[in-house]
Amino acid sequence: MAFSLLGSTPLRKKKSWLILLKVVCLIAIFFLVYSALRDNLRSKKQAYIYGNPLSLCNTGYSSNLEYILALRKPGLILDVGSFDGGDAVRYARSGGHRVLTFEPVPSKASAIIEKIQNSGLGHLIEFFPVALSNYTGTADFYVSKTKLGKKKMKVSGTEQDAFTVPWDKLLVDKISVEVRELDEFIKFENVLYLKVDAQGYDAQVLFGARKAIREKRISYINFEISPGLTPDPTVYAELLSWLGEFGYFCFDCKFFKEQGLRGKSENILKMPVETFISTLNQTKLLQRGVNVKKYTDMICTLL
Ligand SMILES: *[C@@H]1O[C@H](CO)[C@@H](O)[C@H](O)[C@H]1NC(C)=O
Ligand SMILES: *[C@@H]1O[C@H](CO)[C@@H](O)[C@H](O)[C@H]1NC(C)=O
Repeated sequence: MAFSLLGSTPLRKKKSWLILLKVVCLIAIFFLVYSALRDNLRSKKQAYIYGNPLSLCNTGYSSNLEYILALRKPGLILDVGSFDGGDAVRYARSGGHRVLTFEPVPSKASAIIEKIQNSGLGHLIEFFPVALSNYTGTADFYVSKTKLGKKKMKVSGTEQDAFTVPWDKLLVDKISVEVRELDEFIKFENVLYLKVDAQGYDAQVLFGARKAIREKRISYINFEISPGLTPDPTVYAELLSWLGEFGYFCFDCKFFKEQGLRGKSENILKMPVETFISTLNQTKLLQRGVNVKKYTDMICTLL
């Protein structure tokens, strides 16, 4: 019976083998095409290992900030302490970012405005001639009479003009400046990068951005720690702990390297903020006959 059944349907048998063969071939072709495409599909979601976050420092060794900013979608960048407007132009140029730049020293304003205009990026950069802190009002401000630092700066005042200065008051002019808080300018926006260089008053500038920081709306915060320029260096430890409460991790931009502390041991790779500040506070760096102590930059981000 079985024999005759087999013998009776040779054609149908042949057909079903052909269909099976076709199906097998189609499956094989599908897998061949899929595996060829898979590498392409995967490369679109390639995972990377990035260099260390120090390359996001505004200055210092291994800073690749403009290259990294160029990879980001245009966003909002805040530049506190314009000095000559150079950083603001650099940020706007590196990827069409919108930049708000702040500098309270009146004698620097025209040079900053000129630099912005000459850059051809005036549509992206807004300049505010105000000081930033953790309150709104007015304050005394000290502007150097001498031109120290960058020789190209053709206006009076240096990069060391500040709310207070550690040296002889005869070397400075006392002026009054308008003081505002960063939150007022950030409003409800997200900030891609915030640079602060406020000569000993960086902590207060950041306390003035408390709303944006609490709401984790600032991706990267770069500021200076200068224990010799601030009336009480413990404010930096307070600031770093406060940032930590909101999930920010802070990386040193200069000091570990300078002191030969990098990569020595696990303890040195991470240091309690109080130890870090008191170590920096014990250094020596003379300027205008005063020990202004060494300074460094921090880059803080939400990892
Ligand atoms: C601003 O910050 C300083 C330093 O932490 C603090 O002593 C002061 O009380 C703050 N001022 C305001 C108005 O929050
Ligand atoms: C910083 O150093 C000064 C002496 O230069 C000292 O009086 C002060 O207590 C130190 N502060 C901290 C936080 O280490």
